[in-house]
Amino acid sequence: MTATDVPSGGGGPEAGSEAPRAGAVARPVPAGLDARVAPVIAIDGPTASGKGTIAQRVAATLGWHYLDSGALYRLAALGALRAGLGFDDPAAVARIAATLPVAFAPDGRIRLGADDVTDAIRAEAVGNGASRIAVHGPVRDALLALQRSFRRPPGLVADGRDMGTVVFPDAALKLFLTASAESRADRRHKQLIEKGISATLSSLLQDLRTRDARDASRSVAPLVPAKDAHVLDSTTLTVDETVARVLALWSARG
Ligand code: CDP
Repeated sequence: MTATDVPSGGGGPEAGSEAPRAGAVARPVPAGLDARVAPVIAIDGPTASGKGTIAQRVAATLGWHYLDSGALYRLAALGALRAGLGFDDPAAVARIAATLPVAFAPDGRIRLGADDVTDAIRAEAVGNGASRIAVHGPVRDALLALQRSFRRPPGLVADGRDMGTVVFPDAALKLFLTASAESRADRRHKQLIEKGISATLSSLLQDLRTRDARDASRSVAPLVPAKDAHVLDSTTLTVDETVARVLALWSARG
């Protein structure tokens, strides 16, 4: 994709970021979908439910593209922070979100302008900022076209909070991935420690509960399963088992 393909002045996937084709497209484009429109598997769920890991693995297995929509909210929050804006100024943050100079490299690195912000956007402060700006309708609207620009053949696996309800309501398969708050805090803790970012379990659990409550209670695109979503509780499942369940649901589609 070239810069001119990307709506809203954003970056989108870079040229050459095609997903690997090996094992691609296990099935034809599902009946009822325009053959020119790539199928979408939408994976929504609360913070640290493992959506990102599962979605990436499913995308790699199918040879599809992958959208981490939370990264876009994190990028907008980081952009707002760097511009010295408050998170509670919807119009100003929406302007930042609409013109994010973001680029996703094929190797997974994310740049904002000239800066590699791959690690910076994972900081908890940025995640909390993302959750705060995500309550604003104008900010969500500003990111809509950019998110939809990731939908390309042979297919897209998208993870977030409103993939199945708002961004891709016609997704061919919708999952709502949950896990207990304690196991999610534990997973997030391990993830941060692996990245060399220090964090305490109790503060992570508290942050996670605050973020869950904010995401679920906001008036715009709240975190709720789509009516036609399969709810999958991964508390006692390994990553491999969860991926296998998602792939089985995809294969079992009528
Ligand atoms: O990693 P974690 O699940 O905590 O968060 P994320 O997926 O990176 O998203 C960060 C924040 O962006 C979330 O807490 C949500 O408030 C917001 N978000 C959203 O509102 N809608 C999305 N589709 C994705 C993220």
